[in-house]
Amino acid sequence: MRITVKVDGTTYEDEVDPRLLFVHYLRERLGLTGTNVGCDTSNCGACTVLVDGRSAKSCTMLAVQADGVEVQTIQGLANGEQHPLQRAFSSCHGLQCGYCTPGMIMASVDLLNENPSPTEDEIRHGLEGNLCRCTGYQNIVKAVSMAADEMREGAAR
Ligand code: FES
Ligand code: FES
Repeated sequence: MRITVKVDGTTYEDEVDPRLLFVHYLRERLGLTGTNVGCDTSNCGACTVLVDGRSAKSCTMLAVQADGVEVQTIQGLANGEQHPLQRAFSSCHGLQCGYCTPGMIMASVDLLNENPSPTEDEIRHGLEGNLCRCTGYQNIVKAVSMAADEMREGAAR
């Protein structure tokens, strides 16, 4: 089947197998390997991207379902400089092995778009679909909180 999808600002037109998972399309067809596959069964969140601005697990959708949508991956997040969430994950040590990090960050983008001033509980609740097997949640929560502060300050300037 033929699909047209915009990913990280570039429009792609491709012929895809109807059974192809979107995460495999991103990684294998487009070479966007910043989006990880952890479980393939919608549990871990490592494959999270933004689909029309909302976070989605790209292993839970087929490439054909991406026809006509706009997608942002971790690789399209930096805009000349790192996104505040990328900086905060680095400075708060919100990553250990880093495997879950792209999905955590993309889910956090959606979280902060919806709620620019989340409490610690709201951050934990917002990221409950994303697992870190290194159990580094404390620093991840700190990082999201720090990025939220920076983004609010940036918006107020
Ligand atoms: S790879 Fe998609 S949720 Fe784990
Ligand atoms: S940093 Fe290793 S899985 Fe999260």
